[in-house]
Amino acid sequence: MEPLTVTICAGTACTVMDGTGLLLLEDQLPEGLRGRVRVRGARCLDHCREGRGLEAPYVLIGDELMGRATVAKVVARLEERLG
Ligand code: FES
Repeated sequence: MEPLTVTICAGTACTVMDGTGLLLLEDQLPEGLRGRVRVRGARCLDHCREGRGLEAPYVLIGDELMGRATVAKVVARLEERLG
């Protein structure tokens, strides 16, 4: 099965809203998720505009958008999706 792509926004709004820790996601994946997830960064996912920046940082898990993302929330969702 193809790895699930996780796209971490590394744009300004997401970075200042505590998104830098997410850039370490790959190193913090539990053993059971390693090799099943592909982590990549993106410039701006275009969800920070029109006041929605309050929900930054944003992460895409496949095509599913997560706001106020943390490493723990992303890992929990990956475990739900990938078992
Ligand atoms: S900076 Fe993250 S969505 Fe724009």
